[in-house]
Amino acid sequence: MAATRRRPEDLRSHRWYGVQDLRAFGHRSRTLQMGFAREDFAGKPVIGIVNTWSDINPCHYHFKQRVEEVKRGVWQAGGFPLELPAITLAEPFQKPTTMMYRNLLAMDTEELLRSYPVDGAVLMGGCDKTTPALIMGASSANLPAIYLPAGPMLRGNWHGEFLGSGTDSWKYWAELRAGTITERDWQEVEEGIARSPGHCMVMGTASTMTSVAETLGLTLPGAASIPAADANHGRMATASGRRIVDMVWEDLKPRAILTAAAFDNAITAIHALSGSTNAVIHLIAMAGRVGVALDLERFDRISRTTPVLANVRPAGTYLMEDFYYAGGLRALLAQLRDALALDCITVTGKTLGENLDGARIYRPDVIRTRADPLSPSGGLAVLRGNLAPDGAVIKPTAAEARLLKHKGPAVVFQSYDDMAARIDDEALVIDADSVIVLQNAGPLAAGMPEWGQLPIPKKLLRCGVRDMLRISDARMSGTSYGACVLHVAPESYLGAPLALVRDGDSIEIDVAARRLHLHVDESELARRRTEWRPAPARFKRGFGALYAGHVTQADKGCDFDFLEGTVDTPEPDIH
Ligand code: FES
Repeated sequence: MAATRRRPEDLRSHRWYGVQDLRAFGHRSRTLQMGFAREDFAGKPVIGIVNTWSDINPCHYHFKQRVEEVKRGVWQAGGFPLELPAITLAEPFQKPTTMMYRNLLAMDTEELLRSYPVDGAVLMGGCDKTTPALIMGASSANLPAIYLPAGPMLRGNWHGEFLGSGTDSWKYWAELRAGTITERDWQEVEEGIARSPGHCMVMGTASTMTSVAETLGLTLPGAASIPAADANHGRMATASGRRIVDMVWEDLKPRAILTAAAFDNAITAIHALSGSTNAVIHLIAMAGRVGVALDLERFDRISRTTPVLANVRPAGTYLMEDFYYAGGLRALLAQLRDALALDCITVTGKTLGENLDGARIYRPDVIRTRADPLSPSGGLAVLRGNLAPDGAVIKPTAAEARLLKHKGPAVVFQSYDDMAARIDDEALVIDADSVIVLQNAGPLAAGMPEWGQLPIPKKLLRCGVRDMLRISDARMSGTSYGACVLHVAPESYLGAPLALVRDGDSIEIDVAARRLHLHVDESELARRRTEWRPAPARFKRGFGALYAGHVTQADKGCDFDFLEGTVDTPEPDIH
């Protein structure tokens, strides 16, 4: 796509390898030390392969093999591949939450790419926060970069039923607590729900964010939907390795791809997929890295006109493996041509519109057509009101319809521990119309973990209650469901209105009107505000202290304030 191809002496790596001085002698001799020959690297684009593999990340455990397939493609196209391991963010294991470490991986990626002789990058991620983190870092480094999504794992199986990551864990956990399945059943679900490499295979945060990466134009067409275990995935890895070499010669950089129109396309995709609420935070942060200002209203506006087309759990029925066989993301986006900016340039050097040519739906029950959507609009809704002055989000398609316009008395928990200690207390005054409120679960209080699908008390589960209105400043796993109002901003830790709610206060939600209201007089709220005392600082040293000093609130993307924007960082001196 670029008018002129760069020459070897134009490459960034030329400053390390191509000049005749003592430093370059060291760079060459130390590369030769690893068994490479001069012709392996001389005058070739150096491709940094940022690999988030580790022994503790099951979503990426095929990356040991995939990285070799990427290297194969880089060699084929005349590049020099270098694997650069980056910090691993393994969603199921990392505490208090991977969300705290998203910005650390973004910094890791940016600094790896800037401080080494890298001309272009292949970004290997997929497990929840890895996608936004890698893209945020590569966008700030602004070197040619292509994203390699890990791909979803295969469907889970149990007693002839398909199981979806997270979604069916929550479902059968509730059944176990309600006494409708046995411990033995539960153990079998545990053994059957995750049976191949790859990320969660519902439309959770991972599938949403890899689909976002593809819609933004950062992956090869179709890459986000291929199951990790499919041979097409390995071929896609090699093709990505081939393509990045040409992107370097063409000087095709993230900031040329990540335009405001591309972000609008991504928002459209999130809504059509009924994607994870987490995507709102991540997209705002990603856009901030390239100087595109996204606000919550933009998500809400696009949501009102975008039909939900992906019939995938938790909002729908099927799983990502079915979605792939049904035509994948390209087939879904092709249904939305009129709503997309088709002229956005992508890593292929072609436009999004060109990349969608020929895409077809093969199973209209899995990917719905425009004429037969799962829902005519409203994959996500942004709420405002005196309880959330800077906004909150809810996923209406994943909630019981009766709770989308509802009023009930608050049952307040001041922390997760408080909730864990009392939620199943038979004496707790609560019924199906109550509104469960969790405080102190936001970015500064707790790192903003995925606690937002607050548990329904056992005694109500036994009576058949499966959904209630729940409100917090936490996030919710993209695999979760329920009438959960999330990301309340500002967070309660800062003394915001959410911190002032007391048991019995009346709370009203009206999703159609985008309203969330606490029915307490302003004078009473003012009185409570004078009584409110901040909790002690949670994170006092190391990365936590850096995080606490600089993280922004949910409506601003939870990036670090000093990482936002496109201020140029000077190239490193090579002396
Ligand atoms: Fe990695 Fe869900 S645990 S994507």
